Amino acid sequence: MSKKVLQGFILTLAISFFNHACSSNNTNTMDTTVKLTSQAYGVFEGQPITEYTLTNAHGMQVGIINYGGALTKIITQAKDSSWGDVLTGYDSLSGFTQTANPYFGALIGRYANRIAKGTYKVDGIEYHAALNNNGQSLHGGLKGFDKVVWTATPLAGDSSIQLNYESKDGEEGYPGNLKVQVVYTLTADNGIKIDYTATTDKTTVINLTNHAYFNLSAGKSLTIKDHILQINANQYTPVDALLIPTGESLDVKSTPMDFTQAKRIGDDLDKVEGGYDHNWILNKAEGLQEVANVYDPLSGRSLTVLTTEPGLQFYSGNFLDGTLMHTKNGIQYIKHGALTLETQHFPDAPNQAKFPTTLLKPGETYTHTTIYKFATK
Ligand code: GLA
Repeated sequence: MSKKVLQGFILTLAISFFNHACSSNNTNTMDTTVKLTSQAYGVFEGQPITEYTLTNAHGMQVGIINYGGALTKIITQAKDSSWGDVLTGYDSLSGFTQTANPYFGALIGRYANRIAKGTYKVDGIEYHAALNNNGQSLHGGLKGFDKVVWTATPLAGDSSIQLNYESKDGEEGYPGNLKVQVVYTLTADNGIKIDYTATTDKTTVINLTNHAYFNLSAGKSLTIKDHILQINANQYTPVDALLIPTGESLDVKSTPMDFTQAKRIGDDLDKVEGGYDHNWILNKAEGLQEVANVYDPLSGRSLTVLTTEPGLQFYSGNFLDGTLMHTKNGIQYIKHGALTLETQHFPDAPNQAKFPTTLLKPGETYTHTTIYKFATK
């Protein structure tokens, strides 16, 4: 072997050792690869609807459509290693567009939750948001952000889908042209991260959230009564018969609203008239923090919620009555068949001086981040 060939051989060997060392190191770090696929999901008002599916290195899958910016599926692993869809939903676009759709998986805006009689003032001017719920305005009105087509753009790296929507001045009774952007990201550690931003050209009110319904048993339990819930909140905002906050902040201690210690949802459910459908005042400072956890002992799945928002609406699926059509695998979603954990500002804040403000002024940027993180134990 000539000296040159020997040198070349040693160099090749060194490179191969180096590469091997690097790849061994990589096995110690998290595999951040996410695979993105897309498929046609139908047509709404002449516009094509697409479903994007993100799959991470663990195999967790999330589906997103540009109709309502809705989540379509969240497939995670149970403790027996089987895979299942923990997101309550539909098998097709017809499910999402049916009149009775209770916001399954959708983005909610311009104002999530209720505004009393739809009436509020901004800069001394009275506005009337569209009424759609017992004379109140719920979740943005008659055609909220859940019923519009968003512009979807997959981002570089394939782990995020960006959605954009421009809500016109006056739409559903809200002032200002509002530019909204929502980025859904599937993280390497089984989180669905939702980053919201918005700007306006006139002072307006804003409260954005996602209305995903979960049943962590993935179809094995008909209700969420056996799920165990913990919420980091010492207080909640009580409501009247129309589910409008009375303006008070009450302590949860010694009441059925107390989830400061993990508690089976069914334990006190019957003691709450109508079931849980309230806003908890989160014990938190500024910034992204863990605020709630729900665990299903049957499947071993857990969901941890992290958010930058001050409130959490825990809704125990009280209005589900088994009549929705086009459901996944034809499942009947009965009362308490699923739960929502909607991160948000407080309901009716535009009319409640003591609640954190929901005003957005020109030149400001609304931001909100929420992560739904799944695990198995
Ligand atoms: C929210 C509300 C509930 C109900 C559902 C949709 O969670 O707080 O009262 O309207 O949306 O059915």
